[in-house]
Amino acid sequence: MCGIVGYIGSRPAVPILLGGLKRLEYRGYDSAGIAVGNGSVGVFKQKGSVGALEVALQASSSMLGDATMGIGHTRWATHGDPSDRNSHPHTSMDGSIALIHNGIIENYSALRTELRSQGFEFASDTDSEVLVHLIDSIWSSCPELSMEEAVRKALHHVDGAYGICVISGRDPQRIVVARKGSPLVIGLGDGEFFIASDAAPIVEHTKKVVYLSDGEMAVVTRDGYHVKTVGNEAREKSVTELDFDLEEIEKGGFEHFMLKEIFEQPVTMQEVMRGRVRHEDGFVRLGGIEDYLDRIRDARRIVICACGTSWHAGLIGEYLLEEFARIPVEVDYASEFRYRNPILDEHDVVIVISQSGETADTLAALRLAKEKGALVVGICNVVGSTIARETHCGMYTHAGPEIGVASTKAFTAQVIVLYLLSLVLSKDRSLSRHDISLYLRELGEVPEKVSRILELNDQILEIAREYVDSRNCLYLGRGYNFPVALEGALKLKEISYIHAEGYPAAEMKHGPIALIDEDMPVVFIAQQDATHGKILSNVEEVRSRKGRVIAVANEGDEEIARLADHVIYIPSAAAPVTPLLNVIPLQMLSYHIATLRGCNVDRPRNLAKSVTVE
Ligand code: AGP
Repeated sequence: MCGIVGYIGSRPAVPILLGGLKRLEYRGYDSAGIAVGNGSVGVFKQKGSVGALEVALQASSSMLGDATMGIGHTRWATHGDPSDRNSHPHTSMDGSIALIHNGIIENYSALRTELRSQGFEFASDTDSEVLVHLIDSIWSSCPELSMEEAVRKALHHVDGAYGICVISGRDPQRIVVARKGSPLVIGLGDGEFFIASDAAPIVEHTKKVVYLSDGEMAVVTRDGYHVKTVGNEAREKSVTELDFDLEEIEKGGFEHFMLKEIFEQPVTMQEVMRGRVRHEDGFVRLGGIEDYLDRIRDARRIVICACGTSWHAGLIGEYLLEEFARIPVEVDYASEFRYRNPILDEHDVVIVISQSGETADTLAALRLAKEKGALVVGICNVVGSTIARETHCGMYTHAGPEIGVASTKAFTAQVIVLYLLSLVLSKDRSLSRHDISLYLRELGEVPEKVSRILELNDQILEIAREYVDSRNCLYLGRGYNFPVALEGALKLKEISYIHAEGYPAAEMKHGPIALIDEDMPVVFIAQQDATHGKILSNVEEVRSRKGRVIAVANEGDEEIARLADHVIYIPSAAAPVTPLLNVIPLQMLSYHIATLRGCNVDRPRNLAKSVTVE
């Protein structure tokens, strides 16, 4: 999705806006622009990265330099291709109003027709531009209105999702912002204020933030801010203290955020467990759901809703919750769940999983589940995100800011939270305290085992070199590791643009085997568990059709070495924790193949870190 920033204070706004946009570029990066207010409004925007915008600005003779308030935008195109004229900010025909927008205006076509009939001309193909002309049409017909009032009235005509910032020379020295569906945060500085889609651009300036909720708007000046609903009701907002530091959103010497986040996992995995687990005596506690534990334990069933990588974590959660807690579980794509009119009531528990906590489909699934009376439990990484604030209760994954678009450390953190949840629910029900301490001990050994797997980086790089030119790839796993096969395939797809599919290994014979030939690499997760013999037969089936095999296997497994072209040996562990180990080589393999192909792994094409529109 798009990234939005704003600043009003006493310092030059341009460098602050550009710095903020760079921190948000993982949200969208096909064009960028800024608008500053200095009595009149000055706009500078173009197709391409924020870095390119900065260079163009320095080369231009634009007089934006000394303005001390402004707004900025980095775009992820939904309506209108990436181009100079479709980049934001959009302005009114006389240039006196500038607006940036994150989201989708669903009734933009009708509004466009109406505004055209009033004589408004459109400079872009975007849905967003209708907003600035709508504000202009209302304000021009009632010049005595304040900018806040004009924006409020305009929003009453809008269907869809938006996070907007508006400035104008007609009502200078203030920024009007509003949100519905798309996130917005206000950073409270000393005589200066910051606005952004998330806290990443704000933390280097202040740790005090206010999260706007859906249907709220704010007016921000140098003296302060006030929040009201779009319905004009005043709102008192609580101030949140950010719990992360600037260096956590820096690359820390790694070439890419994705690689840094892969290598952070031994630490982030411990962070997930901190204060929740005592391995030695089987103590496990999840404070965020304690008040609802009985209701969760007595649930008729648990429905897990999520998207993308979080959905894969949900699938592993199904295996864990059914095995440990013996509660029936089903896992749904949030985008399907929200439209299939699911049978739900107060006897059901819905778990929504989201790294960003802003994914539109997951948010809608949450709201639908609440409407139907189910208890909604959240598993989120971003503190203060919309999903975290709207669930009944939940657990943070504490993986720290995840900047790389391809999720890695958040995935393993989600799986650990689901593991702990399964053990908490199994207490005095299906597992003894002793069993629980055994499973906690297994979990406790995972970070160190992951550190050993990360040492295989060079070997995995060498394997990657042999598959750089692949056009397709198949990932196969069984049991707990079937979802890991799906996750491995997703990682390769999203950052290297190689077509890849994950399957339960036994499912291969029912179709995918037709794809196998000497050009089809097949990645096997060959766990030395009850299914090992079956996996070896599957490897034989691939070999007999000249498929090339990469196997992630346990140290000491000589049989697989006989069959596979490449074997990545990793430490063994109890089946329920193996996804946390097996996914690491798959993350690294996709990373190396993608970088060797020259792909920008932190900014994969067509993708965005949090998908805040449908
Ligand atoms: C994963 O690498 C992708 N970035 C994507 O599939 C992501 O998992 C999905 O958009 C869900 O995001 P969320 O966890 O923030 O809700």
